[in-house]
Amino acid sequence: MAVMAFSISAVQADSKPIVIKFSHVVSPDAPKGKAAAYFKALAEERTKGRVVVEIYPNSQLYKDKEEMEALQLGAVQMLAPSLAKFGPLGVKEFEIFDLPYIFPSKDVLRAVTEGPVGRALLKKLEPKGIIGLAYWDNGFKIMSANRPLRTPEDFRGLKMRIQSSKVIDAQFRALGALPQVMAFSEVYQALLTGVVDGTENPPSNMLTQQMQDVQKYATVSNHGYLGYAVIVNRKFWEALPDDIRDTLESAMIETTRYANAIAQSENDTALEALKASGKIEIDTLTPSDLAVWRKALLPVHREMEGRVGKDLLETFYREAAKFGFRN
Ligand code: LMR
Repeated sequence: MAVMAFSISAVQADSKPIVIKFSHVVSPDAPKGKAAAYFKALAEERTKGRVVVEIYPNSQLYKDKEEMEALQLGAVQMLAPSLAKFGPLGVKEFEIFDLPYIFPSKDVLRAVTEGPVGRALLKKLEPKGIIGLAYWDNGFKIMSANRPLRTPEDFRGLKMRIQSSKVIDAQFRALGALPQVMAFSEVYQALLTGVVDGTENPPSNMLTQQMQDVQKYATVSNHGYLGYAVIVNRKFWEALPDDIRDTLESAMIETTRYANAIAQSENDTALEALKASGKIEIDTLTPSDLAVWRKALLPVHREMEGRVGKDLLETFYREAAKFGFRN
């Protein structure tokens, strides 16, 4: 009997699934939330249950800064933080993605994230105990506040919530605003109570956090990109059986295709829903408004080249030049 009990528990121990805890800060209905669910389904199906992916959305496990620490400590195995959140980790080059108007087209963005430039950036995470698997889109950001934001002057004196990116800090200072770093999970409350006056995010994040309830105006400025790096704890990843790791890598390639295919339409639908809510007035910039915004914000590129790397900035410009764009 004792032998029998031992052998059953040995079998059970053997067949215990590998658990991947995937923590993130957005709603399950946001593009990242949907992509995480897609990865879970693929990973579990393709590994025939040898891997279980547990998703913890909405900062329910960790907020922005804590989740990075938790990944490094191995308390969670997978995250997809926005590219604006790698500075505190000591990999400030990712903040290049935050530069205003850095991507003149989706083709340029894709050439960076799917090409050698993007791969080289992910490599910089390895000494930090992290492996970068993929880039996922969210989209281009809109600006919101309780007053109309048609011109750069409209930002003067406004307290704007930002992610922990020095480039975004410089962007708002260039507009005469007062940027304040804050975790995503705290933004709604801070807008409600007036701790900050406004914020920026793609429509999908605004809508899924109900920010239309606490912001009266938004401007479709598309001034900056919001994307994610899907990252895993290096020790965990390298210790996986080879076949499992290969299967998960191919599930990630497929998930990335899905994530990047839905992001634009998710944001288009979210923008329409924000408009339809009747709670927030959405402004669109005319070409001449846009020229004024660009003039105010483009100097941030040079101002921040020391932070993100002059060579890297030139590399980004060269990628744009391949598609006929000049900076
Ligand atoms: C933020 O504003 O913190 C977001 O971009 C969060 C996210 O992960 O989309």
